[in-house]
Amino acid sequence: MRKLFINGGNPLHGEVEISGAKNSALPILAATLLLDGKLSLTNIPLLNDVIIMMRVLRSLGLRVEYCEPDTMNVWINSKIRHVAPYELVIKMRASFFIIGPMVARIGLARVPLPGGCAIGFRPVNYYLKGLETLGAKVEMEHGFVKAYAAKLKGAPIYLDFPSVGATESLMMAATLAEGETVIENAAQEPEIVDLQNFLNKCGAKISGAGTQTIVINGVNSLKAADYRIIPDRIEAGTMMTAAAITKGDLTIKNFIPDHLSAVIVKLQEAGVEVECGKDCARVFAKERLKALNIKTLPYPGFPTDMQPQFTSLLSIAKGTSVITESIFENRFMHVQELKRMGADIQIEGHSIIIEGVPKLSAAPVRASDLRAGAALVLAALCAEGETLINDMERYIDRGYEKIVQKLSKIGADVKEIK
Ligand code: EPZ
Repeated sequence: MRKLFINGGNPLHGEVEISGAKNSALPILAATLLLDGKLSLTNIPLLNDVIIMMRVLRSLGLRVEYCEPDTMNVWINSKIRHVAPYELVIKMRASFFIIGPMVARIGLARVPLPGGCAIGFRPVNYYLKGLETLGAKVEMEHGFVKAYAAKLKGAPIYLDFPSVGATESLMMAATLAEGETVIENAAQEPEIVDLQNFLNKCGAKISGAGTQTIVINGVNSLKAADYRIIPDRIEAGTMMTAAAITKGDLTIKNFIPDHLSAVIVKLQEAGVEVECGKDCARVFAKERLKALNIKTLPYPGFPTDMQPQFTSLLSIAKGTSVITESIFENRFMHVQELKRMGADIQIEGHSIIIEGVPKLSAAPVRASDLRAGAALVLAALCAEGETLINDMERYIDRGYEKIVQKLSKIGADVKEIK
């Protein structure tokens, strides 16, 4: 088990490059099940979650190879298996995205029910209801969802909540359905626009991604095409918060500031200087930050995947902050660990009240999920003393590529022990 040791107190400075987006790579890899031929995807981060998706695709009969520094080559032929392995899907919920493309491509899918995780129950009812609306039969058997249809039929789908995964999986399914599908109250995240652009490059007819209404006109087949995915806005937001929490001066490169407007506005409200360019931003802070009120919302609202990082940031701000989590029912697991480091935080239902303290002090802590892990890394970067963070593989490596190298390069005193 890899451990991370961080000696806090160094203001971060210099330049950091952002990797490709995990939450774009995963649905786009799942979408390759719809295609025929060979393609190369670039800007793909080598993360544990991406490796799991690679193994899922291989188990379904695709040939998948990763070539440093960031290319995934995929060969797809028509012999796709219809059963996804339990031991892989339970490791990573996003594996369930494959159900839409599988039913659309081979007419049958047996995919394990992903089950909940540390941040919530995370049911898949919107996926299943949407597939039934497209004419699929959906049954539960032995912990697997079995979905089948000779040919999906386009139809209007209304999502009760703008679920990212359900929007992506149903958008993929509708690309090979007969006729038109309209997804209303769709999620609007940039990763959904990236998926639309990739599929349209492969011959799909999709419009409206990035808005509440997505229109898909089904086609008979899709041809593999090379594609470069977007940068990871959550990694960029995490690095911005690292500059702010250490009172550093960082230039974050190779990302799209427009994808992070809600985060940038909140940083500036707290007193952080953020100067944006087309694909980069300089972030610096000299004074103690001001308290904030934040509510997580679907895009373009404040991203839930940045909530734990801002909890760490506001733990040392001046005054009382309130953060309300409206997306997941159990996403405050990092709070107990931050309190071990001297933070003053009360949980009240779906909100936390943070009384800013002058400083945090190092302590051994344990991450409970990916972004909680990021919050603990940020807290350790500003804490007095050396913090030990356990279990890197299970959490931080799932979503942050080469994090130790990147942090060391910008002045953090960080080392990992295998
Ligand atoms: C995606 O998860 C991201 N994961 C998550 O990032 C992110 O937190 C989330 O969107 C919200 O932005 C990937 O893209 C791989 P949802 P997803 O479906 O698609 C409920 C990270 O840290 N819901 O939008 O699983 C659900 O329980 C991860 O990188 C249903 O009730 O999220 C949740 O409360 C964590 N029924 C809410 O909707 C359904 O059928 C939003 O979930 C589907 C979802």
